[in-house]
Amino acid sequence: MEAENLELITADSPSQRVGAKPIDDYVKIEHTVKMLSLANAFTLAETYDFFEKAAKELDVDPSSLDIFSEPKLDGLAISLHYVHGLLSYAATRGDGQVGEDVTHTIKTVKSVPIKLATDCPPATLDVRGEVFMPKAAFEKLNLQALQNDSKVFVNPRNAAAGTVRQMNPKIAAERDLQFIPYGLGDYGELKFTRHSEILKFLHTIGFRKNPHCYSFHGSFEEFEKNYHVMEKVREKLPMQIDGIVYKIDDLSLQTALGFIARSPKWAVARKFPAQNDVTQLLSVDFQVGRTGVLTPVARLEPVFVGGVTVENATLHNMDEIERLGLEIGDSVEIQRAGDVIPKVVKVVAQGADRKPIIMPERCPVCNAAVERTEGQAAFRCTGVLTCAAQGAERIRHYASRKFMNITNLGTKLIELLYNKGTLKTIADIYTLKIDDIASLDGQGEKSAQNVLASIQTSKTTKLGTFLGALGIYEVGEEGAKNIARYFKNLDAIAAATLEELMQVPDIGPVMAKNVVEFFHNDNNQAIIKKIRDAGVTWQDEPGAPVQPQPLAGQTWVLTGTLQHLSRNEAKALLESLGAKVAGSVSKKTSCVVVGQEAGSKLATAQSLGVKVLDEAEFLAEFNLGH
Ligand code: IVH
Repeated sequence: MEAENLELITADSPSQRVGAKPIDDYVKIEHTVKMLSLANAFTLAETYDFFEKAAKELDVDPSSLDIFSEPKLDGLAISLHYVHGLLSYAATRGDGQVGEDVTHTIKTVKSVPIKLATDCPPATLDVRGEVFMPKAAFEKLNLQALQNDSKVFVNPRNAAAGTVRQMNPKIAAERDLQFIPYGLGDYGELKFTRHSEILKFLHTIGFRKNPHCYSFHGSFEEFEKNYHVMEKVREKLPMQIDGIVYKIDDLSLQTALGFIARSPKWAVARKFPAQNDVTQLLSVDFQVGRTGVLTPVARLEPVFVGGVTVENATLHNMDEIERLGLEIGDSVEIQRAGDVIPKVVKVVAQGADRKPIIMPERCPVCNAAVERTEGQAAFRCTGVLTCAAQGAERIRHYASRKFMNITNLGTKLIELLYNKGTLKTIADIYTLKIDDIASLDGQGEKSAQNVLASIQTSKTTKLGTFLGALGIYEVGEEGAKNIARYFKNLDAIAAATLEELMQVPDIGPVMAKNVVEFFHNDNNQAIIKKIRDAGVTWQDEPGAPVQPQPLAGQTWVLTGTLQHLSRNEAKALLESLGAKVAGSVSKKTSCVVVGQEAGSKLATAQSLGVKVLDEAEFLAEFNLGH
């Protein structure tokens, strides 16, 4: 009829629910009244304490407070704005102040009235509530996804959020999203005295009711009773809930209490604890993290725990597997706590045909050798510079201020270039072109030029800095400097044996082994060659290898402003003589060099009886008289 009689189409016509066109972009919407969050309570005692504090502030007895309890629906918060009874827009919570316009998908939710069921609607009304996906709808959606080889959602909350944020409302219309209100934002000329009254009003104007809401007095026993009821109710509910929200019902008391930070002082979310279930360990995969650590991940027979299908769980490391006595094929107890990745808590029964879990000898990402760092639980991939799993972190480390100091090549830009495949290893930094950067979102020609200029400037460096920039495990800024000072040039370092490396002050067997392994890897050598060919240079450390180090084993501290040397020059001088330069004075400090306007470090040194030199004495000591 509407197609033939266009004048009959009204804003609240059922045909308008899915009629919206797909959107191109999200529009920001400022909330008229801020959308708040809730403080969490994890135990009965925390819940009771919360209201005891509120009662104290109100100068009343906690058990005299009227408490209203509601299931905490596990979806996403939405604000519905009505103008003269018609839905004007729907917005997500965003940061509480500004959200995103999602009217196009929210209109497809049947429990969101397009027109309020009242003859005299207020001029404006903000209805606040939760959009969620019932458990059955979530299961159905994931089953379809598995059949179509498309993305499976990890839980109903993610499925609801993903659906609300769909650009195309037709997709949202095909999925069963639901809306239940839990309060109001701006309610203009309307008058209420109780929260429960608001919920009743919302029901009369066409909204659904949250099931299993209760009113009771705020005594410890009542909270306890309510919790036990809700624990049982939870299993039977068609939607996932992650706790109970307790609110002081009296609106004048709510106003008197007000807010702290982003949450009200009159309501709290009592969260349900972790949930456990038993399933079978099917296999174990090894994931390579940003720093090269291989983490075992359990692949499980899928189980539905607290509204979520769990298929994977973290096993942390090989020590944990040993502690659990875990093998493939075993029945295991898994635990899920809120958003945290599920974990295996224990072996419930050994599998009939169980197989041990073995750390691979080669990295599953780059095929480099996998090594265990002595004294640590972690196994690492040795393909430091070439392993794709470690790439972005390696590049960030290399370009950072402490090392190559490529000032305009920040973490965000590295991630962008890395994800695009432009930067695969640190050597690719030197083949970057203006267009590689200028073509990225949020970058222009000018910023691209700045990046290339800072790459150019960074090319002249020091041996110790370059060595540290390579990110060899355990070899930090100081370790790299010590090695550089000892061996004087990179080729000598690359050719050094384990024994030779262990001669360097402060270098132990772990660092020495890592250095040897790093330079024995041909891929790492090839990358260093590329970097040198691109024009990166450093001064080799002066003098013959192994200088006398009169200050070896000593710790010096510099404080105040020196007149004839910069802080860095003084530091370099002391380090070249074998001293460590520390930032604070302790009993172990060998000497404190005091410049002008020295602060508390001088006083500390004096009180500890540590040797103090002024600038002139310091220069004289090392024959640097001016
Ligand atoms: S009241 C000012 N009631 O939980 C208080 N929130 O963790 C506003 N939620 O952002 C919230 N069910 O999205 C309230 N019955 C309920 C709720 C509920 C779910 C969500 C809501 C809020 C979040 C806070």
